[in-house]
Amino acid sequence: MAEHASVPLTDFIEYPAEEMQQRSDDFYQAIKRRHSVRSFSGRSVDRAVIENCLRAAGTAPSGANHQPWHFVAISDPAVKKEVREKAELEEQQFYAGRAGEEWLNALKPLGTDDQKPFLETAPWLIAIFAQTVGGVESGDSGKNYYVRESVGIATGFLIDALHHSGLATLTHTPKPMKFLNEICNRDSTERPYILLVVGYPADDATIPVHATKKKALKEIATFI
Ligand SMILES: Cc1cc2nc3c(=O)[nH]c(=O)nc-3n(C[C@H](O)[C@H](O)[C@H](O)COP(=O)(O)O)c2cc1C
Repeated sequence: MAEHASVPLTDFIEYPAEEMQQRSDDFYQAIKRRHSVRSFSGRSVDRAVIENCLRAAGTAPSGANHQPWHFVAISDPAVKKEVREKAELEEQQFYAGRAGEEWLNALKPLGTDDQKPFLETAPWLIAIFAQTVGGVESGDSGKNYYVRESVGIATGFLIDALHHSGLATLTHTPKPMKFLNEICNRDSTERPYILLVVGYPADDATIPVHATKKKALKEIATFI
């Protein structure tokens, strides 16, 4: 290995084989209770919880460790209202045909439409931005690598952390999302990636049957 500064790995935890088996099953049982929720209660969620989940997201692996992400956590009702108005404007055109017939047909079993009241009801919206320009230090203006992959992994960590904390989420992607740059005051070199809706589910929240159908292990994995 090339010369580089390093420190001993001290925080890896090895579990006995049986415990490892149990932990892997426990994790699966817990993560399969995550569902995209589209009906949120207005109950508030402490900022400290959101901060911890964002810290967890920030530990994700990334190309050359450039951490090419920025999270804008929105709880201000006026800003959420603006996000909803702009998102619904884009979604009206999307559902009116801009998406194309095949895409709209694929969405039918989910029952989604251009109305997004949850963008105002949910206590938190987290706008996730992918930084095309950056580096290992904040404010660097070098090139970032594997930006989409890195931000996708960090977003996965974030969704998992929120679920683990006892919160529901919706991975929302109003299309196009460029309006988020202006609302969140982010540079045009940052690409809006996902708008995560976070909070408690409404008491009468439902999930589409379509979303409960997950491919079996033998369909998604091959062992060779
Ligand atoms: C990249 C991505 C974009 C998504 N965009 C939307 C969206 O704009 N609106 C929405 O209602 N759901 C959206 N979803 C949620 C999916 O519809 C949902 O994950 C899928 O139906 C499976 O359901 P589950 O998350 O409950 O397992 C998106 C999911 C992903 C991963």
